Amino acid sequence: MLAQEMADVASQRKPLWIGDLLIDPPILQAPMAGYTNYAFRQIVREFGGTGLQATEMVNARGFVWLDEHDCEHPDRLWGVKDEARPLAVQIWDNDPETMAKVGKRLAGEYGVSVVDINFGCPVKQVTEKAHSGSYLLRDPERMYAIISRLVEVCYPTPVTAKIRLGCTRNTMNHVQIAKTVERAGASALTVHGRTAEDFFRGSADWSKIAEIKEHLQRIPLIGNGDLQTPEQVVYAFQNYHVDGVMIARAALGRPWLFSQAAAALAGKPIPPDPSLEEQKACMLRHYDLVVERFGTNKGTLLMRKFACCYAQSKHGARHFRTHVAHVESPEQFHEVVERYFPKFVDPAGTGEPIAGLDESCSCD
Ligand SMILES: Cc1cc2nc3c(=O)[nH]c(=O)nc-3n(C[C@H](O)[C@H](O)[C@H](O)COP(=O)(O)O)c2cc1C
Repeated sequence: MLAQEMADVASQRKPLWIGDLLIDPPILQAPMAGYTNYAFRQIVREFGGTGLQATEMVNARGFVWLDEHDCEHPDRLWGVKDEARPLAVQIWDNDPETMAKVGKRLAGEYGVSVVDINFGCPVKQVTEKAHSGSYLLRDPERMYAIISRLVEVCYPTPVTAKIRLGCTRNTMNHVQIAKTVERAGASALTVHGRTAEDFFRGSADWSKIAEIKEHLQRIPLIGNGDLQTPEQVVYAFQNYHVDGVMIARAALGRPWLFSQAAAALAGKPIPPDPSLEEQKACMLRHYDLVVERFGTNKGTLLMRKFACCYAQSKHGARHFRTHVAHVESPEQFHEVVERYFPKFVDPAGTGEPIAGLDESCSCD
């Protein structure tokens, strides 16, 4: 894409507001169960470039249960009370009152910037077992009840919704759902351009995301799905009528991607990737944050999957993955990183989605 085109997008772009909250730049870090914990968010925050970050999805029913049994709040709320704002916490369930109980706590006691509702998760544990997440896309009335109740109890904290295009390719109802979300009082709508049935197969359908725009009177539309480069982010703004974009998988091994996308969107030169030595240092800092919270054993196990993401698209990534997949102690982790972390970028592999990574990896 030409520098001039990028500059044009920059000059035409309108600010993104979620309620009274200015999201600048209009690039959001997606919620990802098992991944977007405090450590990841902190690393992303240090590089900059996102206007709003999100937690992993939090099970509202589980939160209420823990609370009633005087237990500690969910691990997924690690860091949330104290970390920098703006920050969105995403919750899921199908019962308006349960959701309201948790939303009220998050908006009040936790003081989060946004309460986001998950209407997109396609994982069986959430859909078939709990009739939540993307299962609710077939039931706009219930979606309305959940959103409107949350809006009421969270006020003035904005409530947002994240959806897919529908349950199946044959029953896509994205326009109807979008109107419902707006009517119920939500402050923004994020759309992942696949159906629940698609899971992560095929490509996100951005033309379907774009169809929604003319049906929204008041709230911004945030597009999501398959964005992997700063140029694709600019292209999405240029072609699909979105007010904001959200990035998930591509940022897992490249937390600096947001800052590159933000530069492109502002019409500035895109900063280069950090050097491999800097990337390695970033991964080790990520490791320290995870271990600080979860201890050396659990922290090391948890970090195996993040380490694989950092190596993605680099020469020797497979070799590194094979070794890091078995580390059990900090000594082993550091040794494997020193010996096997890739020393060359693989130009052909840049931008590939992370193989085998989908929501089923990481549901509670
Ligand atoms: C491992 C994993 C976990 C995810 N967890 C969540 C989640 O907790 N809440 C949610 O709304 N979406 C979740 N998603 C979906 C992403 O937020 C996003 O919609 C999807 O990955 C498409 O965006 P991408 O192509 O940029 O990855 C998850 C996706 C993955 C791969």
